[in-house]
Amino acid sequence: MIGPEFLAVAALDVLSETAAHAVDVKGRTILLCLQAGKVFAISARCSHADQELTCGAVRNGWISCPAHGARFDLATGEPLNPPATTPIMTYPVRISGGMVEVAV
Ligand code: FES
Repeated sequence: MIGPEFLAVAALDVLSETAAHAVDVKGRTILLCLQAGKVFAISARCSHADQELTCGAVRNGWISCPAHGARFDLATGEPLNPPATTPIMTYPVRISGGMVEVAV
């Protein structure tokens, strides 16, 4: 069986625990978020009104949308509070040789 194709998208040491790091992967923007030493990859667009999540605050395993304040669980993409009601996309991540790799 062939697994997902992982692509190296950023060096692990450029990530911070308090802000998302945006990367372009196959024509789409993905946010890398570091929390408690673990890296999560999520969609850069909010599921509420399609605004950018890139500048959202990252804390305690969630990212908040700068537009209207919805927060999303970094691991599952599930919304944690209104006005968002549907999840955002999340992507598999692995670390290899100090690089963050994402499967899109
Ligand atoms: S666009 Fe993100 S909460 Fe409204």
